[in-house]
Amino acid sequence: MERIIISGGRPLRGTVRVSGAKNSSLPIIAAACLAADVSILDNVPHCQDVLTLRAILEDLGARFEVEGARLTVDARGLDRTIPDYDLCRRMRASFYTAGVLLARMGRAEVPLPGGCSIGTRPVDFHMKGFAALGAEVATEHGHMKAAFPRRSRGAKGVPFYVPRSSVGTTINLMLAASTGRGVTTLTNAAREPEVVDTAVFLNLMGARVRGAGTDTITIRGVPVLHGAQYTIIPDRIEAGTYLLCGVATGGDVLAEGLIPEHFQALLGKVTEAGAETVVEPDGVRVRLGRDLSAVDVDTAPYPGFATDLHPPLAAALTRARGVSSIRETVHDSRFAYVDELRRMGAEMKVDGDTVRISGVEQLSGAPVEALDIRAGAAVVIGALAATGMTEIRTVENLDRGYEGLTEKLRSLGAAIERLDEEAEPAAAATAAG
Ligand code: UD1
Repeated sequence: MERIIISGGRPLRGTVRVSGAKNSSLPIIAAACLAADVSILDNVPHCQDVLTLRAILEDLGARFEVEGARLTVDARGLDRTIPDYDLCRRMRASFYTAGVLLARMGRAEVPLPGGCSIGTRPVDFHMKGFAALGAEVATEHGHMKAAFPRRSRGAKGVPFYVPRSSVGTTINLMLAASTGRGVTTLTNAAREPEVVDTAVFLNLMGARVRGAGTDTITIRGVPVLHGAQYTIIPDRIEAGTYLLCGVATGGDVLAEGLIPEHFQALLGKVTEAGAETVVEPDGVRVRLGRDLSAVDVDTAPYPGFATDLHPPLAAALTRARGVSSIRETVHDSRFAYVDELRRMGAEMKVDGDTVRISGVEQLSGAPVEALDIRAGAAVVIGALAATGMTEIRTVENLDRGYEGLTEKLRSLGAAIERLDEEAEPAAAATAAG
């Protein structure tokens, strides 16, 4: 069990290079397995969720080569239809194998997925969608079994309304319908940049997906897809996390290598809270020269305020003047981080779908846990802003979504180190800020 030790109270300053988007890499690596051929993907982050998906697909017969951030996907040998339970239960995105296997092999038997504990997260919308595409779908022994009728030649084209603009459902149905015999129209489709990224890659593979980025996507099935070369978009959630590290510590952080238009909602809120923001062609800079003020936020599907930045924003607002509120409208429950930040002296109260945050003068370091990926980001931000030392456990949750977190934060001036179970903190992280 490794730990992260942070000695807080130092304003973070400098430039941080953003990695490729985890939430694009996962469906795009899966999509590459639709081709009986080789694809080359650039800007793929080295985070645990990507490694887990690779292990799942390798077990099904795909092969990978890694060279820095370049991943070569060779799906020629993919010939199995039942992904491994132990790997799938670690991550909800493992369910993308269902869309891929259905489109490629006509059937799939996929374990119901696990993932972050951020409320009940069933896959009923995905299953309804597969059924609408003509598959016979059933749940048995903890697996979803789905198969197109034997002589059907894949998905039939249908109109399908995507409940709650689900990102995963939109992507899984794009995958499942990409090869097939008709035109599928998804209405109320998710508009997230990661959906668009996946559609762009599918089209490079020869698919005919139109309208991604709007709430109506049409997918005209094609007989075969081929390999393609593509560069994954930068990770807007990782970038937002580092920008909020700067805000929380009264610092000045430039996140570079990103697409500024993905940041409208975040920049709007941090500006309202008193930070100065500068948008550059390839980056976003956020500087806090005065006290942070309280703000009210509702999370929403893109282009609204991203639910994945709710916990990091809440951590940054613990020291804002006044009472802030964040209403979570995407996930049923996303407040696991609240008790951890309270251990550090934050004043927070959860009432139904809303957390109210009364700003305090100072947080103080404490032993805490990274309970899921973004709850982990929240305690990191709390620790950076707090006085004294914070010890963060369950760091494997941070590894799921953040590549090189310790190194990137250290390059911004954080006193941070990563230790195994036995090791004592060294001077860097124990030195008073
Ligand atoms: C993706 C992101 C996740 C982000 C979320 C919302 C990945 C790997 N993960 O998750 O980081 O927080 O989008 O932006 O890209 N739902 C159902 N039944 C379903 C599917 C979804 O009830 O079959 C519910 C979910 O529980 C949730 C809501 O719909 O409350 C939206 O979920 P969805 O957009 O599907 O999120 P994910 O794709 O799982």
